[in-house]
Amino acid sequence: MNNIRALILTEYGGPSAIKISSIEAPTAGEGQVLVRVQAAGVNGLDWKVREGYVRDAFPLQLPTVLGIELAGVVEAVGAGITQLRKGDRVMGPRGGLGAYADLVAVDEANLTLMPDSLSFLDAAALPVASVAAWQSLNFAGPVQAGQRILIHGAAGGLGGFAVQYAHQAGAVVFATTLEAHADYVRGLGADHVIAYDKEQFEASARDIDLVLDYVGGEVLNRSWSVLAEDGVIVSTASPAIQANTPAGRRGLWFMNTPDAARLQSIAEDVAHGRLQSKVNAVVRFDELPEAIERNRTQPQIGKTVVNFSL
Ligand SMILES: NC(=O)c1ccc[n+]([C@@H]2O[C@H](COP(=O)([O-])OP(=O)(O)OC[C@H]3O[C@@H](n4cnc5c(N)ncnc54)[C@H](OP(=O)(O)O)[C@@H]3O)[C@@H](O)[C@H]2O)c1
Repeated sequence: MNNIRALILTEYGGPSAIKISSIEAPTAGEGQVLVRVQAAGVNGLDWKVREGYVRDAFPLQLPTVLGIELAGVVEAVGAGITQLRKGDRVMGPRGGLGAYADLVAVDEANLTLMPDSLSFLDAAALPVASVAAWQSLNFAGPVQAGQRILIHGAAGGLGGFAVQYAHQAGAVVFATTLEAHADYVRGLGADHVIAYDKEQFEASARDIDLVLDYVGGEVLNRSWSVLAEDGVIVSTASPAIQANTPAGRRGLWFMNTPDAARLQSIAEDVAHGRLQSKVNAVVRFDELPEAIERNRTQPQIGKTVVNFSL
């Protein structure tokens, strides 16, 4: 039997609910390729799944393998594969859970060839955050020059990309972050950086056409007051926006979907320096449980990535 490492969620709970186990290697089904994973990105969804916060949205049969995005090398292809071949360097969302394992079967449609100059570590940071940022920015309608956009969580995985896309589109970008991360967010192109540990965003953000809520909770609740009359809030963090949008206001819950073509174009932009992608921490596979918990307790700028070769 060919066994591999995998990070398994055994029951909903705290950090001890996940552990590294040895499981039987998967095979590639029809329309799938088997990827030997070199690196994977850590996401907020990891701890939310672990705690059971999203068990209604993602009903799971436990135990299950965690992880939602990866970069690696095609090890084998299943029936019906037309584009990818053994040895190709690929990146993409897993499309569901299961990326934290040495070998992962992924739908070919989710995967993108990596630009030659991109490392596995840089590639693993892109599939979810960079595409979700693009999709959420354009979810309520295409981003437009002159639009006033407030981005909460601007230093995070999604926020860092959304600030750059909005700036490049000619929007006026307001961005909230810790004062310690203000220079980083300014460097991404934010016009007005609001240090939320020093000031209330309501003091300077007004007549906002679009709020991108990457934080949720009271940050979302307070954001209605800064919206222009026909403004909209798009939240990736708080599904409660659907039930709690005040009468006469527009609030949208966003869920990302795989988009290999978009990922390819973003990866080319990163590889050629047209977009910044920040990998802030690289951890070993056995450090994953701590890294997932750190994402919950001390979010950092950019992304944490696990290097499977360390
Ligand atoms: N619905 C979907 O399809 C989807 C897809 C991807 C992600 N998500 C969710 O979207 C959210 C963002 O994801 P992510 O990967 O970007 O998370 P992340 O990398 O952990 O970033 C979140 C950022 O929020 C900032 N933050 C914390 N408290 C804040 C506050 N009070 N005001 C402003 N910023 C604050 C932190 O920056 P500072 O250090 O500057 O505080 C942190 O960098 C998460 O809730 C994630 O689960 C949803």
